[in-house]
Amino acid sequence: MSPNPINQDSTLLRQDLESKASLIEATIDTLLPLSDGKGSRLMEAMRYATLGGGKRLRGYLVLSTAQLFNVPTEQAARVAASVEMLHAYSLVHDDLPSMDNDDMRRGQPSTHRKFDEATAILAGDALQTMAFDILAADQTHPNTCVRIALIKSFADASGAYGMVGGQMIDMESEGCSLSLEETQHLHALKTGCLIRYAAEAGAILGQASSDLRQCIRSYGTHIGAAFQIADDILDVTATAQDLGKTIGKDEASGKSTFVSLLGIEGARTEAIRLIEKAIADISSFGTAADRLRDLACYIINRKY
Ligand code: IPE
Ligand code: IPE
Ligand code: MG
Ligand code: MG
Ligand code: MG
Repeated sequence: MSPNPINQDSTLLRQDLESKASLIEATIDTLLPLSDGKGSRLMEAMRYATLGGGKRLRGYLVLSTAQLFNVPTEQAARVAASVEMLHAYSLVHDDLPSMDNDDMRRGQPSTHRKFDEATAILAGDALQTMAFDILAADQTHPNTCVRIALIKSFADASGAYGMVGGQMIDMESEGCSLSLEETQHLHALKTGCLIRYAAEAGAILGQASSDLRQCIRSYGTHIGAAFQIADDILDVTATAQDLGKTIGKDEASGKSTFVSLLGIEGARTEAIRLIEKAIADISSFGTAADRLRDLACYIINRKY
């Protein structure tokens, strides 16, 4: 009997994650140059929030789906850096005392602890606008329609009907017990939309056919849902050292999660079901999508 692919560890994926993370970090480093004098504190905080680690999963997705459509790496790297900047802003704001009140992020003091609350809010704001600015620039893609399509999808995924809307429901639901359907909706907005966008961005850049773009979109939706379930499981099972952030926060804050609804095993079963769907979504790409299949498995097997 062949081993269950869900349990396999891929060395090739690890190498690819590392090399793409280096490219993303080098691109962010260039896009956020340190300055002297006025404004330097803001840039320092923006660099602190974006360059201090992280799995670079969203950026990896952009680079990997772009490869399927032969997009030049320099274009994809800008889009990958842009989504990682917006993601970093979401983490800076998520950690604020008025939100999850978390002192640790990526194994270091969270941005408002390292600097101060006002600087963290402003650094998050500036990272968000910078992320859109990068997409609007000619170097991202020579075709204006492609750039506008990226900006529109990015705005939809990150705004009131996407990530920010999800964060609002997350806050409003503290101390309430949500149904499974309500929790799925919350996850889809707060985490799923941005991950789906990251996957789809490569197809947008590559001007993929609507059929292929839909396959990638569905893959992104399924791994996005599984990703937040894994995050909720790790909040209960991981160590703070491995995770680089405070653990046990969800239960302490009365958050509704898949773990609180289904238990750890039930949540894991649901995550595996979603990953199997994601793998089926990209079957038409053959071996060219092997790393994306490995990534789907990694999402639920990761330890941090
Ligand atoms: C954490 O995201 C926030 C969630 C959406 C659950 P990641 O686990 O991708 O954070 P980094 O970028 O690797 O630090
Ligand atoms: C954060 O979800 C989602 C966003 C930042 C949009 P969590 O609050 O569960 O993320 P962690 O656990 O703090 O990383
Ligand atoms: Mg939160
Ligand atoms: Mg949080
Ligand atoms: Mg969490």
